[in-house]
Amino acid sequence: MNILITGGAGFIGANFVKYMLKQHDYKIVNLDALTYAGNINNLTEIEEYENYHFVKGDICDRDLVDNLFTDYSIDTVINFAAESHVDRSIEEPEIFLKSNAFGTQVLLDIAKKHWKLDQDDKYSQAFKDNVKFIQVSTDEVYGELGAEGLFTETTPLAPNSPYSASKTSGDLLVRAYNETYGLPINITRCSNNYGPYQFPEKLIPLMINNALSEKSLPIYGDGKQVRDWLHVEDHCIAIDTVLHKGQSGEVYNIGGNNEKENIEIVKLILERLNKDKSLIEYVTDRLGHDRRYAIDNTKITTELGWSPKYTFEQGLEMTINWYLENQDWIKDVISGEYAKYYDEMYSQR
Ligand code: NAD
Ligand code: DAU
Repeated sequence: MNILITGGAGFIGANFVKYMLKQHDYKIVNLDALTYAGNINNLTEIEEYENYHFVKGDICDRDLVDNLFTDYSIDTVINFAAESHVDRSIEEPEIFLKSNAFGTQVLLDIAKKHWKLDQDDKYSQAFKDNVKFIQVSTDEVYGELGAEGLFTETTPLAPNSPYSASKTSGDLLVRAYNETYGLPINITRCSNNYGPYQFPEKLIPLMINNALSEKSLPIYGDGKQVRDWLHVEDHCIAIDTVLHKGQSGEVYNIGGNNEKENIEIVKLILERLNKDKSLIEYVTDRLGHDRRYAIDNTKITTELGWSPKYTFEQGLEMTINWYLENQDWIKDVISGEYAKYYDEMYSQR
């Protein structure tokens, strides 16, 4: 396979690129704009691999994407590239629409062009059997749950934040290219990830980082919001499984049956780091804050045979150890724009 992975310098993308290079002998082109969330240092261990190429650029850049398809005979796209943080989307929605909706459409269009889906059926079928577009999406497209129930693949789409609305827009375009042009696609919708290389704007690395530097731990609202946590390696294995076994046109939810209240997680982190609970500070809630997400993973577990490798206890321990052992990484990522972001987001909260 000649795979175009977009957003491969971010948290999940970097974990995925490295995972794929270890598992397979595929050619991988990693296209990433290196926004504040993208970090080339996440990829140092693979930069010398002959079957791996990094390209700095934007998925919205049609000519660039077109050239990459030609130069590398791309037959597979796995689209991770996105603006990914809900809080930032509340402050500045436009960039979310650009990258998450328009950027996805550019990738779809160039894939359609190169995979010759508008040619006669026989020719086109040969391409369809050997190409695939995977859209890495999120459980947030389903909106929020009450105290009961789980998101299935047929739960109506009801996004509540500009972030989730932009991801839903991307998903709908992917669906439309499948329906209209027969583009072979899968959409994966995963729950909250955690693990190495996650940018410290997200709950778990933010709390680890603050606890280590004895800064207050800002809990939004009452802290009883529920997320369904999955270690990033389990997400990577799930996407690899969908790539090889997923039925064309299908959506697969990914989650590890691991619901936790935010406050529970923060207390676990404090306990593990031997820090005092007095660091916890309840702050003004996120606007439109979704109360609960939880994934029904029956489809991917029964039809494709995937299941998570790590329990939350193992995964959290591994993650905290990684941040403890990679203090230089964290110092580097919080040295630039992060301080300004943190101040704007939290100082008046
Ligand atoms: P991230 O913010 O850590 O990384 C995003 C990457 O995309 C960065 O490297 C950034 O430079 C790149 N990027 C952004 N806009 C781009 C553009 N226009 N062109 C090229 N590159 C661009 O995000 P993440 O947490 O790794 O999430 C990756 C994907 O997985 C996203 O699509 C997200 O919606 C989805 N997802 C994330 C989670 C989670 O818990 N983090 C869960 C489910 C799904
Ligand atoms: O569900 C999948 C989604 O998970 C992904 O699509 C998103 O890209 C990813 O960012 C994540 O979204 P969340 O909004 O759930 O993640 P975040 O880490 O921002 O917040 C997790 C929970 O913790 C949420 O209820 C808000 C709360 N929170 C977060 C931060 C950063 C706090 O209480 N305090 C904080 O400082």
